[in-house]
This record gives sequence, C-alpha cells and structure tokens, in this order.
Amino acid sequence: MKPARRPSNPLFSSGPCAKRPGWSLDALDGALLGRSHRSKPGKAKLKEVIDLTRAVLAIPGDYRIGIVPASDTGAVEMALWNLLGPRGVDMMAWESFGKEWVTDVTKQLRLSDVRTIQAPYGALPDLSQADFSRDVVFTWNGTTSGVRVPNGEWIPSDREGLSICDATSAAFAMDIPWSKIDVATWSWQKVLGGEGAHGMLVLSPRAVARLESFQPDRPLPKIFRLTSGGKLIEGIFVGDTINTPSMLCVEDAIDGLRWSLSVGGLTQLIRRSEQNLRIVSEWAAASTWAGFLADDPATRSCTSICLRFTDPEVTALTPEAQADFAKKLAALLEKEEAAFDAGSYRDAPPGLRLWGGATVENEDMEAVLPWLDWAFATVKAEAFGR
Ligand SMILES: Cc1ncc(COP(=O)(O)O)c(C=O)c1O
Repeated sequence: MKPARRPSNPLFSSGPCAKRPGWSLDALDGALLGRSHRSKPGKAKLKEVIDLTRAVLAIPGDYRIGIVPASDTGAVEMALWNLLGPRGVDMMAWESFGKEWVTDVTKQLRLSDVRTIQAPYGALPDLSQADFSRDVVFTWNGTTSGVRVPNGEWIPSDREGLSICDATSAAFAMDIPWSKIDVATWSWQKVLGGEGAHGMLVLSPRAVARLESFQPDRPLPKIFRLTSGGKLIEGIFVGDTINTPSMLCVEDAIDGLRWSLSVGGLTQLIRRSEQNLRIVSEWAAASTWAGFLADDPATRSCTSICLRFTDPEVTALTPEAQADFAKKLAALLEKEEAAFDAGSYRDAPPGLRLWGGATVENEDMEAVLPWLDWAFATVKAEAFGR
C-alpha cells in the first residue's frame, strides 16, 4: 500500500543539504548586497561567520578559522598544497572523497614518502596503522559510503605530525575533539544547509607553525596562498578573504549558525542527527531488503546514511542490474515527491543514501521509511514481472 503521508520536507540530498526548518528567502533580508566585502560592514559579516562558527563548534581561541574559496575541496587542497612535504604522509581513505585526496597527494603533489591506508566501501581501515610521527590525512565522515571514524581516540595528543581532516559532512553533526585536529575543513552546504561556494579552514597553532617554518618548493597560485614573506596572512582569519565571497551566501551561513544557537547549539545539532540515524537503524534492523553499507554499527554515519540491498533476489542480480534497480528506486521516490536525491553516489555500491544531518527533521526521517518499503516492493514487482 502506498503510504498516506509524505515527509513535510522530502529533501534528503547529501549536498547541498536541506535548508534549516522554517527557512525562506526572508532569511537573507539582511544580506549586504552591492557593497564591498572589504567595507566595514562587509568585513563585520565575514567576521560574524567566523565568530559564530567558533562559538557553535567550541573551537579553541588559539585556532584560526578562515573563509576560503572553492568550497570544501578548495579548503582541503589549500591545506595539502601548503602543508605537506617536510614529513612522510599517511593517507587514509575508504570512499570516493578520501580517494580523491590520495590521488592529489600521489599523482599531483607527487610526494616521495606517502603511505596509503585504504578500505573498501562499507569498511574503515585499521586506524591503528596511522603513524602520527608523520602527517595523517583523513576524512571524518565518508559521505559516499556512510562510514565515519567513531571518535578521535586513535589520534595521539602528543603527535609530531599534523592531523589533517576533511570534516565536511561531519562538522556540526559529530563531536570533533579539537585537541586532536590540526587542520579541519568543510563547506557551508552540508549540515547547516547553507549555500555552496565557500570553504572553511581551521588551523591549530601547530599547523600555523608548520606554515611559517616550511616553504614548499612548488608554485602556489594566489588562491591557495596562506603566507606572505614566511608569515601567516592573519587577515584571512578575521574575514579579509583572499578573493570576493558571495555576501548572499555569507548571510545564509550566518542564518544557519544563528539557527544552530536557537535550537540549543552543537549538542542539539548532534542529537537531531543521531536521532535520524537511530530511526533508520530501527527500521533497517527489521527490514527484509535493506541494510547499512557500513558493516560496523560504531562507524555508521548519522549524516550520510548509506543503505545497500539485502534482498536475496536483488543481490543475485549483476552489479549493473542492481545499479539500474537502485536508479529506478530513487526515480520513483522522486516522482512521488517522497524523497529527492536519495540515490547512492555514482561510484558507491548500488543502494540508497538519505541525508540525516541536523536540518532534517526526525519526523521527516520517520515519514520517508514507509515510502522506501513501498517503492522497493513496486520496483521489485516490475523488475521480476510480478
Ligand atoms: C567528504 C567530502 N569531501 C569533499 C567533498 C567536496 O565538497 P565541496 O563540493 O564542498 O568541495 C564532499 C562533498 O560532498 C564530501 O562529502
């Protein structure tokens, strides 16, 4: 039977993610449009993003927070290109985005001493393999496999190398222990449902010391440069951006951060997201056709919730036929306006992916699950001619 009730907000994309509950264009009324981002009020807006970010995430006072170009990718690339070189590097990867960073470091930067520690979709590599006498690059939450690191306990406090963390899909929905992190990056369109364009770059004092003591012998385009004359460009970390940001996106980022505080801050953001995971977990435990792509429950993401097929007839299909089945499933959910963008990532095993970040209401997660059951039964009946 087709479910009677649709989610009030059927947007489950893993990026750009759903806007916060109650969002409308009115939220952007205060945007400083047509003015210079270097004017006094322009800089104040950018600084407000930085200050609110520090407040919501409880980032230590001696860590720098900057707004940088080119979304999360821009922020990660800036970190890799500026910082890596003086030590060996351990690259940890278990899905598409982590693997992209491996490609960057091995094929583009072509560093000589790189160890790659990988795991297939659904698994996490052995974190104890990471050697923190070296620099370690990892993704907190693998968006395309729904596998996250369970915590930061595997990162020593007295490390010699830097811990460099792509935290997009994790920041604002998972607890990030700042003392274990030297570099963190994310983009606005994830957990707080902001607009895509800009990246955030957080640097520990040790990351800054590296920047000021190590001059890479490779060319760095202006868009990547964090130092001048061997000194950190401090302006970047108070809102003096490298190039022109969108003040509309900036206003939206402020709105998301203010909303975070209005619902009770980071604890409540995490609670909302973890509850979404709990709702799906209870459903999956009873499901006869779907299960988590993440093998170990301790590694299951509360933001990018990735599901694979467990139905014996569907799993017996060829990988191509399973991918086709998954596409039809996502298309039907979309046609019914029950769930948009719920298909798994193109390089990931076929299945579904539901975003469960803090802007997704728990009731909407509850409401979408009967639709998944209905859509699966419908597509299966068609596929097997029944
Ligand atoms: C883990 C991870 N890293 C990097 C990216 C790329 O982010 P952006 O499009 O903000 O550059 C994404 C996007 O989904 C991601 O999930």
